[in-house]
Amino acid sequence: MSESAAALAPEISEVSRRKIAFVGSECYPFVKTGGLGDVMYALPRALIREDCEVRVILPLYGCIPEKFKKDLTWKGSFMMDLTLEGRTFFVGIMETEIDGVIYDLIDNREFFDWGNPYTSLWEDIPKYCYFSKASLAALNFLGWIPDIIHCHDWQASLVPLYLKTRFWGTPVSNARAVLTIHNLRFQGICSIDHLKYWSGLPDYLFNYPELKINDRECNMFKGGLALADWITTVSATYAEEIQTPAFGEGLDSHLRFHQPKLSGIVNGIDTDIWNSGTDRLLKATYTADDFLDRKVLNKRALQEEMGLDQDDRKMVIGLVSRLTDQKGLDLIDAIFPSLMDGNTQVVVLGTGDSRYENAFRYYEGKYPGCVAARITYNEGIAHRIYAGADAFLVPSLFEPCGLTQLIAMRYGTVPIVRETGGLKDTVAPWDPERNEGNGFTFTQYLPGKLLEAVNAAKTVYFTDRWHWDEMVRRDMEKDVSWASSALQYIELYDRLSGRA
Ligand code: ADP
Ligand code: GLC
Repeated sequence: MSESAAALAPEISEVSRRKIAFVGSECYPFVKTGGLGDVMYALPRALIREDCEVRVILPLYGCIPEKFKKDLTWKGSFMMDLTLEGRTFFVGIMETEIDGVIYDLIDNREFFDWGNPYTSLWEDIPKYCYFSKASLAALNFLGWIPDIIHCHDWQASLVPLYLKTRFWGTPVSNARAVLTIHNLRFQGICSIDHLKYWSGLPDYLFNYPELKINDRECNMFKGGLALADWITTVSATYAEEIQTPAFGEGLDSHLRFHQPKLSGIVNGIDTDIWNSGTDRLLKATYTADDFLDRKVLNKRALQEEMGLDQDDRKMVIGLVSRLTDQKGLDLIDAIFPSLMDGNTQVVVLGTGDSRYENAFRYYEGKYPGCVAARITYNEGIAHRIYAGADAFLVPSLFEPCGLTQLIAMRYGTVPIVRETGGLKDTVAPWDPERNEGNGFTFTQYLPGKLLEAVNAAKTVYFTDRWHWDEMVRRDMEKDVSWASSALQYIELYDRLSGRA
């Protein structure tokens, strides 16, 4: 290579790095209500390891802790028009970098100064119209034009529509839009008038192929799915399921129509945060080599922290979950008395529907020393349940991917799951003949079937500990990282942006 070519080389490789913008409504460690927050944190980190530049765009909510806000740098501000009347709104861009990933937080107090990211749909719709449009305007303002804009869930689903209309011909319109479905249950449905007013999108998008769903209403997610260059969802099985009426949440025929641009890529977890060998939130760290001696130290600590009877011989079953119908909690409720056999303890961490919050509070009172319910959101307790429990329940009605079963496995806590969505794709059923599998599974959404699976787990735990421990080891050694799924996203990005 000549001297001048050598001098150019770093610049050329710099130019050819893939640029990916993530747009979504939550991102750990700033704000997280569920798995979306985990994915928005972990996938960008996995992508930068594969030579991508990634910027994550999210709202600067009032609830983001001060310790993060104080590290933000002001990158600029401008006024942006929104609504049919062309009202103008302030857009501030506050930036920070964590381990090579850049985070641009969109500042606007009028929309984001609430205690929680989500309030009511009536308020959330204007908020996320603003956010989607402001994200694209911010990319133009920053002069950072990505190859791909990767949008997440309904809150970011107007991005493809803005990109192909109001922003067409501006620099950012060179990007391709990927829209990922994390949960089809939430779609952003409202009156046509409300969305027309707030989004200021052109009238022709309010027709059946795009936003419209009936004479009165429209659906933001539906429109985003129609105009995205590609749709992904978070497991192969969920990608199939959502094309059926049972799981399609009213959009199954829309998704069947768009099937040629739909694929499933299973989630991973961040294996640095979820690492029982280094986790500072635990009483005792442990690995696949020493779990036999050390995992029990976390069980004892958990029993103590939760006010459960101190007894190594009891089987501790954990549950960390949003307490909503999605998570199969009515099945747990139905079999609860049968779970309580004197040798079993149950630990619950979660918030959500008062029906389930109250049910678990009631069981805690009814079975003192055997049941603990923490009706709250707490990262530290979650880590200690994943580490201290023996088994972990995820009997979901539907589950696009599910991260809790992945975390449980990584912590050597055997999952008991229903075979749906990502649960089916990530937890192989226990096979005693071959000594294979990662957990205990059932298919039909019936309390009796869950009870059978729990009883099968109890039988192995209490009568065949060697096989149980083999399963724990297998689970701890299973690859639940983002490594291979990040490569699948890169392949998709390259195909869409014409690199491949
Ligand atoms: P979903 O996104 O449907 O809620 P996932 O399984 O994908 O389900 O992700 C849930 C994430 O939220 C996991 O990281 C889990 O540990 C966390 N989580 C859920 N509830 C709580 C809670 N009450 N306290 C702490 N973490 C929680
Ligand atoms: C959603 C789904 C969950 C998935 C998460 C992250 O909240 O309910 O199954 O793991 O998104 O993709």
